[in-house]
Amino acid sequence: MARAMSNMEYLRQFIKDKNVASLFPTSQFAVKRAFKNINMNGYKVIVEYGPGEGAFTRRMLDRMAPDAHLIAIETNEQMVKALKRINDKRLIVVNDSAENIQSILHKNGFDSADCVVSGIPFTFLKRHQRVNIVKYTREALSSMGVFIVYQNSYYAVKYLEKEFNHIARDFEPRNIPPLFIMRCRL
Ligand SMILES: C[S@@+](CC[C@H](N)C(=O)[O-])C[C@H]1O[C@@H](n2cnc3c(N)ncnc32)[C@H](O)[C@@H]1O
Repeated sequence: MARAMSNMEYLRQFIKDKNVASLFPTSQFAVKRAFKNINMNGYKVIVEYGPGEGAFTRRMLDRMAPDAHLIAIETNEQMVKALKRINDKRLIVVNDSAENIQSILHKNGFDSADCVVSGIPFTFLKRHQRVNIVKYTREALSSMGVFIVYQNSYYAVKYLEKEFNHIARDFEPRNIPPLFIMRCRL
């Protein structure tokens, strides 16, 4: 699937919006590693936090079942505009913050999510936002659900382990900067 935003426009958003946080979209090596041992085809409701220009979004759409839904929650308006150019009826793009996952799910007619993927920069958030996002995500996940978090460090682990019993760590060096991946289950 073609990219939704040019490198130049992505760079412009990085300069204007500190929450974009990464100079480059995630590499396909890292996207592939984040989904290692994850059967995307088995999920009906998937949520993405901070999809940016869609590096993960496109791969998930390629692997999702035809009757599944992907809710992409993004705060940056230009990224939202770019994501809305992706022509796929399974994709719901929402200009909002990850903390509002529960009301966003309900507004769209869903009770829970099977998989949540997060690329939002944890270190840039206020402490109460980190705590709330992890707590609300756990509450929104179905019992067999998975929360996949990718960051520039394992800093998020200390928040994740307050809500999740099992956290598998992974690492992808072929990314700028190298990517730290946490797959969390109840
Ligand atoms: C590091 S970029 C990741 C972009 C993309 N997922 C990728 O892997 O290339 C982080 C993204 O999270 C978005 N973001 C930051 N805080 C957010 C929040 N509270 N809720 C939703 N999106 C947020 C930013 O606007 C940005 O697009």
